[in-house]
Amino acid sequence: MKNTFSFTSIVFLLAVIAVSCDKTMPPAPDENSLLDGPMEGLNAEEQAQFLKGDEAFGEVFTVEKGLGPIFVANQCASCHAGDGKGTPFVKFTRFGQPDTLGNQFLALGGPQLQHKAIPGFQPEQLPAGATSTDLIAPAVSGLGFLDAVSDADLIALADPDDSDGDGISGRLHWNTIPNYVTLRPNSLSRNGRYISRFGKKAAAYDLLHQTSGAYNQDMGVTSLFEPIDPYSELEVDPEVSTQTVHDVVFYLKTLKAPIQRDQDNPDVLDGKQIFSDIQCASCHTPTLTTGSSPISALSNKEFHPYTDLLLHDMGPGLDDGYTEGYALTSEWRTPPLWGIGLSKDAQGGAYFLLHDGRAMSIDEAILLHGGEAEQSKTNYTLLTSTEKEQLIKFLESL
Ligand code: HEC
Ligand code: HEC
Repeated sequence: MKNTFSFTSIVFLLAVIAVSCDKTMPPAPDENSLLDGPMEGLNAEEQAQFLKGDEAFGEVFTVEKGLGPIFVANQCASCHAGDGKGTPFVKFTRFGQPDTLGNQFLALGGPQLQHKAIPGFQPEQLPAGATSTDLIAPAVSGLGFLDAVSDADLIALADPDDSDGDGISGRLHWNTIPNYVTLRPNSLSRNGRYISRFGKKAAAYDLLHQTSGAYNQDMGVTSLFEPIDPYSELEVDPEVSTQTVHDVVFYLKTLKAPIQRDQDNPDVLDGKQIFSDIQCASCHTPTLTTGSSPISALSNKEFHPYTDLLLHDMGPGLDDGYTEGYALTSEWRTPPLWGIGLSKDAQGGAYFLLHDGRAMSIDEAILLHGGEAEQSKTNYTLLTSTEKEQLIKFLESL
C-alpha cells in the first residue's frame, strides 16, 4: 500500500514537473543540438558578414557561374551539410604516391580526383601508379577558435621525440604555404615552412588556404588566390570574387562552437574522468585558449575542442598510403571531438567516423585506433561495460 502510494505520488509529481517545464522550455529543436549559427558577441557588422558568408557557403555553382569543367560537387554545403560531418556518399579522393618526395602526380591532375564533368567534358580518371585516399568532410563549426590558437601553444603541446615517455609523441606539420596567406601574429617558421593546422593531415595553414583550395579542387572554381583551372591547368580569370572568398572565411571563423549537452549527468561526468584516465585526453586535448584576434568574440577565449591539432602515427590499420605536405601515410591530425554527438544528425542518422567514414559507431572508431594510440585503445578494451557506456555517453554529450 505504502509503496503504491509513493509510486503514484512520484508519477503525479513528474507529471506536474513535465507540464510546468513545457511552459518554460524553448521550442524544439534545442539550440545546443544545432551546429550552424553565429558565435555570441559579434557586432552588427560582423553579423552581416557572417550572413553573407553563410549564403556563399550554400551557393550552388552552375556552368554559368564557373563550375568545373571538372569538379567533385557544386556547393560547399553539399559535403558539409548543416555545417556538420559529411558521409562516404559525398567523399572525395586524393591521389599521389606513398613517399615524401612531394606529390609526383600534381602534373597528372593531382592532388584531387574530379570525378564529375560539365556537359562536353570527360571526368578525370585515376592515373596509373597513383595511390589514392578517400576522405569524408569534417564538421566546420568552431574553426575560428582553432585558427586563433597561437603557434607557441601548439609548440608547447608537441612532443615529437616522446620525451615524457608516454608512448604518445604528436608533431607539428611544418609545411610550405602559399604566398597569399597572411601569417598569424608571432607565426614561427622553420626552414621556410610554417605550422599548418587544417585538413585531415593538417596540410592547410589557415581557413583562406583551405577555402581557396576547396573552391578550386572541389568545384573547379578559380579565385585570385588559386587561379589555375584543374582541367586546362592554365591560369584563368577568377570565377569567385575575392570578397566572397573572404566572406566564406569569415563565416567559418565565426560559426559557433558546438555546445556540450547533459554535462552534469553523473554518467557523463564519470565518462569524462575515464576519458583522461585512459589517455584519450593526451591527444584529444580538452581545453585550448585563443590568442588575441581582431574579432573580439574570439580573443583570449578558453574553449573545449578535444584536439591538439598535432599529427599522430595511427598505425598500419589507418595508413592510407597517401602523404600530404610532410605528413606521412599513417599520420593524421587529431580530429576535434566537439560536436561528435551531433554528427549523426548531419550524416543521415548513422555514424560515419574516422577520415574515410569507415567506423559506424564510436566504439568501432576507438577500436580502430593503433600506433601511438595502441595503449589507450587497449586501456579502453579493459574497461567494464558500464565504464565503456559512460565514456561513450560523455562523447555523445560533446
Ligand atoms: C566534395 C566534398 C567537399 C566540398 C564540395 C567541400 N568540402 Fe570542405 N572538406 C571536404 C573534405 C573531404 C575535407 C577534409 C579534407 C582535407 O583533409 O583537406 C574538407 C575540409 C574542409 C575544411 C577543414 C576543416 C578542418 O577541420 O580542418 C574546411 C574549412 C572546409 N573543408 C571548407 C570548405 C569550403 C569553404 C568549401 C566550399 C568552398 C568546401 N569545404 C567544399 C569535403 C568537401
Ligand atoms: C595518439 C593520439 C590519440 C589517442 C591516444 C586517441 N585518439 Fe582518438 N583519434 C586520433 C586521431 C589522429 C584520429 C583520426 C584518425 C583517422 O581519421 O583515421 C582519432 C579519431 C577518433 C574518433 C573519431 C572522430 C571522428 O570525427 O571521426 C573518436 C571518436 C576518437 N578518436 C575517440 C578517442 C577515444 C575515446 C580515445 C581514448 C580511448 C582516443 N580517441 C585516443 C588520435 C588519438
